[in-house]
Amino acid sequence: MVNQYNSTIETLEKLRLESIAGGGEKKNDVQHRHGKLTARERLGLLLDDGSFEEFDILKTSRGGALGDERNYPGDGVITGHGTIDGREVFVFSQDFTVIGGSLGEAHAQKICKVMDLAVKVGAPIIGLSDSGGARIQEGVDALAAYGEIFHRNVRASGVIPQISCIMGPCAGGAVYSPAITDFVFMVQESSYMFVTGPSVVKTVTHQDITSEDLGGAQVHSKKSGVAHFTTPNDILSMREIQRLISYLPSSNRHRAPMLDLRDPADRIDPTLDYLIPANPKQTYDMNVLIFSILDGAEFMEVQPGFARNIICGFGRLGGQTVGLVANQPAVLAGVLDIDASVKAGRFVRFCDTFNIPLITLVDVPGFMPGPDQEYGGIIRHGAKLLYAFTEATVPRISVIVRKAYGGAYLVMNSKHIHCDVNYAWPTAEIAVMGPKGAAEVIHRKEIQSADDPEAMLNKKMLDYRRTFVNPFLAAQRGYIDDVIFPRDTRHRLIRTLQILEGKNTKGPERKHGNIPL
Ligand code: HXC
Repeated sequence: MVNQYNSTIETLEKLRLESIAGGGEKKNDVQHRHGKLTARERLGLLLDDGSFEEFDILKTSRGGALGDERNYPGDGVITGHGTIDGREVFVFSQDFTVIGGSLGEAHAQKICKVMDLAVKVGAPIIGLSDSGGARIQEGVDALAAYGEIFHRNVRASGVIPQISCIMGPCAGGAVYSPAITDFVFMVQESSYMFVTGPSVVKTVTHQDITSEDLGGAQVHSKKSGVAHFTTPNDILSMREIQRLISYLPSSNRHRAPMLDLRDPADRIDPTLDYLIPANPKQTYDMNVLIFSILDGAEFMEVQPGFARNIICGFGRLGGQTVGLVANQPAVLAGVLDIDASVKAGRFVRFCDTFNIPLITLVDVPGFMPGPDQEYGGIIRHGAKLLYAFTEATVPRISVIVRKAYGGAYLVMNSKHIHCDVNYAWPTAEIAVMGPKGAAEVIHRKEIQSADDPEAMLNKKMLDYRRTFVNPFLAAQRGYIDDVIFPRDTRHRLIRTLQILEGKNTKGPERKHGNIPL
């Protein structure tokens, strides 16, 4: 009896060790030589010490799937759950040392199992991708397996935060699972994502291009906007995921954790009274305001390298997570273009889905004019941001610090699309259009017939600026709830968040709206 017991324990130990060994030492060394950690090392860094509990360590690849009878223990992915700063998360980490981390039937079943549990329990799912994609030998079953993951990504969207970290190759349709998730991290120089790789590009378009130039972290963080965060190495990507998790609720049923950074709610910043330059054409850095008002000057910017004319990210006010959307006058004068609209629209929807209050800091001259933007569909892309803000039922607070013109004023969380509380600084310019455009339209004849048309234009611009370009007309109408002293912004925002705590808005019954995609 004792012997039998011992042998069972030994068998279990042996099987577990086989699975833990993955592709073996040699392949681990290759992984390290490429500047990458192994799948288990990554989980070790991501999760609290000793918190990882593995599922399906004994699950093997489908027998015969690889054209031989080998059963690969673990099937190239490590799955389970653990904690980050004491909060439960579900994880999967693809193991490139086992059949290139390729996705076969058993591999996908393991991922689906943790995704299903994460949704049931209400905890984030974090996927660390390092995979050659669909396991070629498993043919259509591998494609079917991807489909099961996509299906779950969509079902989980808006229920639990989904985070992807691309830590190796990610090609073909495989990119669409990360693309559906809420946030995509990429590791610089060791990860890439594309629908078709360089060799297919060469065949179809006769263009020579490297993997890095086609779908590296630089490309996706600056040009395409696919990646939300990039990090120089595996270690820092795990740290950044931990940081992101600290801002997020575990699910749409939970509140984001409060974190007291011991920054007084009534702290004022007199330097803000001088932030806006006297010359309206002069730029300034919106980050100064952001870092000034947030608790402990801590801000996690999302997509910092993409559409830099708008800033999106997470911070805290009075300990509470807020989603911040701010025009950046230092880049393209803070204009709204296609990329900025899409970037901010998706961010707003994430915050709304997960009950994170939205703060808008407005300095926007308008939408970007021109054929490029019109042909690219600025109308429907701009409409996404309009739709996202209008649809959002979380507490919404706006501060207009300088320009707020025309349609862009309306879109940027104005009172008219039911923002809860709207503030303006005394430097705010709220009008249908800027002084030059307005003067040229309404005084065209007078300007053209003047002895000195330029002098007349300047006079009319000045008149217009004095009469219309201020926050007081909007405040008189009640479209602005208060014109506040810039130095008090932090305090006013925190107080307003407190009163909006109990906000409850329910729209009419419907399956879902039809956002202009
Ligand atoms: C089976 C695979 C594999 C795959 C890699 N391997 N990708 N096995 N299916 N998709 C195996 C290799 O045979 C090799 O096995 C081991 O993994 C390591 O791969 P290497 O090629 O030696 O590594 P490296 O030189 O670093 O190159 C990595 C790579 C390359 C760039 C990922 O392996 C590659 O191009 N793989 C194919 C990628 C691909 O086209 N996948 C299909 C994408 S389409 P051994 O035994 O030698 O160690 C797709 C469709 C999804 O995924 C659709 C969803 C709807």
